[in-house]
Amino acid sequence: MQSSTILITLWLLVIVLSVLSLITEARPPTYLWHVCPNTTTFPRNSTYQANRDTLLTSLSSNGSRGNGFYNTTAGRNPDTVYGLFLCRGDLSTSVCQACVTFASTDISRRCPVEIAAVVWYDECLLRYSDENIFSAVAEEPAIILFNTQNISDQVRFDSQVQEVMSGTATQAANAAPGAKKFATREADANFTSSFRTLYALAQCTPDLPTSDCDRCLRYVTGNLPRGSQRGRVLSPSCNVRYEVYLFYNLNQTAVASPPPPLVPEGNGRRSWSIIIAIVAPIAAFILLFILTCWLLKRGTRKYNATHGENAGYDITTIESLKYDFTTIEAATDKFSDANKLGKGGFGEVYKGILPNKQEIAVKRLSRGSGQGTEEFENEVVLIAKLQHRNLVSVLGFCLERGEKILVYEYVPNKSLDYFIFDRAEEGQLDWSRRYKIIGRIARGILYLHEDSRLRIIHRDLKASNILLDGDMTPQISDFGMARIFGIDQTQGTTRKIVGTYGYMSPEYAMHGQFSMKSDVYSFGVLVLEIISGLRNRDFYETDGAEDLISYAWKLWKDERPLELLNPVLRNDYSRNEVTKCIQLGLLCVQEDPADRPTMATIVLKLNRHSAKLPMPKQPAFVLDSRTDGRMPDKGLESDQSTTQSMPSSINEVSITELYPR
Ligand SMILES: *[C@@H]1O[C@H](CO)[C@@H](O)[C@H](O)[C@H]1NC(C)=O
Ligand SMILES: *[C@@H]1O[C@H](CO)[C@@H](O)[C@H](O)[C@H]1NC(C)=O
Ligand SMILES: *[C@@H]1O[C@H](CO)[C@@H](O)[C@H](O)[C@H]1NC(C)=O
Ligand SMILES: *[C@@H]1O[C@H](CO)[C@@H](O)[C@H](O)[C@H]1NC(C)=O
Ligand SMILES: *[C@@H]1O[C@H](CO)[C@@H](O)[C@H](O)[C@H]1NC(C)=O
Ligand SMILES: *[C@@H]1O[C@H](CO)[C@@H](O)[C@H](O)[C@H]1NC(C)=O
Ligand SMILES: *[C@@H]1O[C@H](CO)[C@@H](O)[C@H](O)[C@H]1NC(C)=O
Repeated sequence: MQSSTILITLWLLVIVLSVLSLITEARPPTYLWHVCPNTTTFPRNSTYQANRDTLLTSLSSNGSRGNGFYNTTAGRNPDTVYGLFLCRGDLSTSVCQACVTFASTDISRRCPVEIAAVVWYDECLLRYSDENIFSAVAEEPAIILFNTQNISDQVRFDSQVQEVMSGTATQAANAAPGAKKFATREADANFTSSFRTLYALAQCTPDLPTSDCDRCLRYVTGNLPRGSQRGRVLSPSCNVRYEVYLFYNLNQTAVASPPPPLVPEGNGRRSWSIIIAIVAPIAAFILLFILTCWLLKRGTRKYNATHGENAGYDITTIESLKYDFTTIEAATDKFSDANKLGKGGFGEVYKGILPNKQEIAVKRLSRGSGQGTEEFENEVVLIAKLQHRNLVSVLGFCLERGEKILVYEYVPNKSLDYFIFDRAEEGQLDWSRRYKIIGRIARGILYLHEDSRLRIIHRDLKASNILLDGDMTPQISDFGMARIFGIDQTQGTTRKIVGTYGYMSPEYAMHGQFSMKSDVYSFGVLVLEIISGLRNRDFYETDGAEDLISYAWKLWKDERPLELLNPVLRNDYSRNEVTKCIQLGLLCVQEDPADRPTMATIVLKLNRHSAKLPMPKQPAFVLDSRTDGRMPDKGLESDQSTTQSMPSSINEVSITELYPR
């Protein structure tokens, strides 16, 4: 009796395994995204719906035709529905057929009454519309998928991705007429300090002419995420994808795996057959019932997981960041003066309240932006992905009626300048608060410079761009403006100088040269301002100094740096921290950008209790503090000569003695 139980268990195991493998075989394609605007819908039971359903059946039953692409129509004018599917170029007919079959029911589940729809899976895309979509390029909506794994040298990696992708795209676009517009490429890429293979894929629907395919691929390639270890952009007419693993299979054979045998052979053990005949059905029924429940539950969970996570990607769509102009107008009470929070270099800022009671800050950009709509959108999408608790979150944008509007999270408290320069308010921030604020600002800038997927130079760091939330945690605002305004990023020379006099590094103010070190300079000015409560610009000390920087330097040289400290703070402060911050501030405002520390070093030094710092050299005094916006030429010349006449070694000796650690 025992051996019969074992046999039955074995049988059941085999049955279960077969069921399991059947379930695996029937695994649905990996869903990525779908778009079907619910602004245009058809009435239920309409002719259009009937035609749409016919179309989907027709696409499904022609899933193995047409070399992975097939277009067809259903119904007549005015209820004609145009539909097509496209399978990934490397997939076999059977995989393609399975995907299309699944998609044709899935799309009507996701978009029950929508007039036009697209659904994307790993394996295929399916699309229908009431307009003739054949041979017409559609780059939008573009769905960007990325992940957040870190890469050591993002800039290099991104340029390698762009290079490989652009070659792949050219190859796909120039495929022979009638062939699939599909190409893949492998290349060595240098990231995480070692070389790994990068796999790239580009594909258009083959009904597009070469020039349209090329245009579409260039558009989506331009939208690829930056600094992401994997990425793809989906659009109705074309898509690109790169990964660090092989995700396509060029050797796919058309043979589907044979169905597994359901039960093993009898092997002449007929003596057991009666027992089995009686026991097996009952036991099998119970066991199968339990196992089926378990499997179904498991299967559902797996299915949902794939759908919920979008195969491990984060998703940003341009659509999800768009706000209606009417919504914004209502939220800000038609941009009323009562709601005006301030005016910045790039436009006016208003407070608003959305219908769901969420408070927002609305920045209405001045019309000077040289960027087109498309670039503006692309940049906003990139900026909106930046998330750090010391950066103000960008919620979205609005581009309507010639307006360019950015929507930010609303930060309740005022900006830092209000607390540090206003004699009535300065008491609210004691030294330990100020020290924390300095550290947090540094971390926010570090994120912009190195940790985010983009490399962003702020270019207009100043006290009024640092907002304080309810806990007095600083949040940097106005970052990415240079990108949004289409001014060349990362490093270089620009003729359009954005920034605020008093905070701009000499090389930027004088020659338009900017780099991360120009932000470091502005940070240094900010630190000295936070310590002293004095503005670098509008400096009215009579101590023979023309601005805050030279004043701080003078005190440092005279070995009495602590006199810089705002009198309001003098009762309770850490001598060590204040000295460290003054020294860091002076290191940041040194004339030669190469001498200034990086933000990473600054954050490191701020976190250490006892940090060894080099001695600052004489800062550059570029700007006459009382000339608003005019660039004095004489200042630079005289200062250059003083810099040369003062060897830094002398400073090092004298001041090291003063502050031994
Ligand atoms: C369209 O979708 C949005 C968001 O999903 C929803 O808020 C809105 O009510 C929908 N409109 C219609 C007409 O179904
Ligand atoms: C659509 O037709 C079905 C059956 O033909 C019917 O049961 C259903 O009530 C109809 N729906 C509408 C909204 O007319
Ligand atoms: C596509 O499938 C439909 C059935 O839905 C069939 O009538 C039609 O002939 C097929 N098209 C081609 C070109 O075979
Ligand atoms: C598919 O699209 C082409 C244009 O690209 C068109 O000429 C052809 O008639 C379409 N096929 C069907 C079955 O509608
Ligand atoms: C990526 O991040 C992990 C943990 O956050 C870290 O251990 C690893 O060193 C990082 N890799 C690179 C290349 O920065
Ligand atoms: C690869 O990247 C590492 C780290 O960024 C760098 O040190 C190395 O020089 C790079 N190698 C090449 C060949 O680019
Ligand atoms: C594809 O198959 C060919 C011959 O069977 C083989 O030489 C080639 O290496 C295979 N390529 C891949 C990517 O597996």
